[in-house]
Amino acid sequence: MIEIPDEIQARIEELIAKKEPSALQKAYLRLQERYRGERSFRLETEEEHLSYLLARFPGTFAAASKVIVRLSEMDPSFQPQTLLDLGSGPGTALLAASNYFPIKQATLVEQNSIFIKLGSSLLQNIPHEYLKTSFSELKITNSYDMILASYSLSETDEAIANSLITQALDHCTYLVLIEPGTPYGFSRLLSYRTHAIQQGAFCLAPCPHEKKCPMGTGWCHFSERLPRTHFQKMVKHASLGYEDEKYSYVILSKKVIPHSMARIVQTPKKHSGHVQLVLCTTSGNLESKTVSKRHKDLYKLARDAEWGDLTAE
Ligand SMILES: C[S@@+](CC[C@H](N)C(=O)[O-])C[C@H]1O[C@@H](n2cnc3c(N)ncnc32)[C@H](O)[C@@H]1O
Repeated sequence: MIEIPDEIQARIEELIAKKEPSALQKAYLRLQERYRGERSFRLETEEEHLSYLLARFPGTFAAASKVIVRLSEMDPSFQPQTLLDLGSGPGTALLAASNYFPIKQATLVEQNSIFIKLGSSLLQNIPHEYLKTSFSELKITNSYDMILASYSLSETDEAIANSLITQALDHCTYLVLIEPGTPYGFSRLLSYRTHAIQQGAFCLAPCPHEKKCPMGTGWCHFSERLPRTHFQKMVKHASLGYEDEKYSYVILSKKVIPHSMARIVQTPKKHSGHVQLVLCTTSGNLESKTVSKRHKDLYKLARDAEWGDLTAE
């Protein structure tokens, strides 16, 4: 399970210390209500922003962290030092990235003043600058090792998102896009992928090809388990000690990426004596594969395999 580092958790506790828990709870319920109607977390009051930190940030942090792990698996020599985060909110993706990479300078694009204030206090030990602007006004002119947009581009028009993707691809080694793992989040991500490939981009992950996505009526998404906090239990009226953050992602680059392995795109079904896998393959197809005990080494690997891992075709 990916957990928020203690130091960041302690800063969040400090930020909420003076607020009434019931006010934060009400603020989160208001947010959820708005989200249902508009598909975007439009935040207004400070309580609403703090409730985002308590209820949503753990999940978006876990998703960003796992996507960074996937990037590192694909390109272990990649050690980015500079980063641009589009729609950074409180700095979630930078906090995740700096756990894995030696980030020396980060630029965070954000239009929301309260998030900038909260982020500045969470990011005290990480070199960064906030650029207070909206996506429609942004022109990417500097180059960065990595550009990320986590749970943010789907909150803007598709044309604006596509323009940012075009610019970003020319100004970084890897462009990382993450959206909620819902049919809508995936549909937005799929259109970014199509647009990027039309611009000459290649997919590092999860897709092992640049062909048409074979998902059909399904939606490609992954899941990361994280410990559920007291606040999350309270606002969601839940008793389980964990929750599963569902996310969709794509990592793109203008550098040529060779593909040789398939991606496991559903939870492997582990039976006694065989494992059933659903794979997205380098030929651009979805394929079911059964690995039985007879396959010895392959079977051992399949028993340990998880949804989202790479595997031999
Ligand atoms: C759901 S939050 C995600 C925050 C953060 N990336 C995360 O993963 O937790 C979406 C963020 O995108 C920002 N955003 C949405 N539309 C934007 C726009 N048009 N220009 C700049 N920022 C925008 C919002 O202000 C918000 O901070």
